Amino acid sequence: MFCAMNRITVQEDYVEKFEYMFKTRAGEVDKEPGFVDVKILRPKQPGKPYIVLSFWETEANFQQWVDSGAYMKGHSRAFGDMKQAADEKRQMPMRSDMETFEVFAE
Ligand code: HEM
Repeated sequence: MFCAMNRITVQEDYVEKFEYMFKTRAGEVDKEPGFVDVKILRPKQPGKPYIVLSFWETEANFQQWVDSGAYMKGHSRAFGDMKQAADEKRQMPMRSDMETFEVFAE
């Protein structure tokens, strides 16, 4: 099984909106071929990144989602806010750092 881990560092004044977006997330990803599960982890220490752990049957399934309209639809609010911050030359409300893994033991 393939895992994509996205660490998202969120500005303090954006945390409430960030959590709201995930609580009301699009759910587009759940319909994707090869999608297994997603967990969103809230840091116990304030200021540390949130972690979005997504599991896929294969890396190709993951890549297909990233290249799809479902990915853009699932991120429309998040990417809209990032674009607005960039246009207004404000600090980004969040930044992300993605790493990929293979599940080799359970
Ligand atoms: C390839 C890298 C990424 C992965 C694996 C990933 C994973 C996910 C998944 C699985 C969802 C749920 C989508 C749905 O419900 O259909 C999601 C939504 C979301 N992601 Fe990502 N994501 C990535 C890139 C990013 C980036 C670059 C950001 C911002 C810095 C971000 C921030 C968010 C936010 C805030 C949501 C909540 C949905 C909304 O916009 O309303 N993600 N992400």
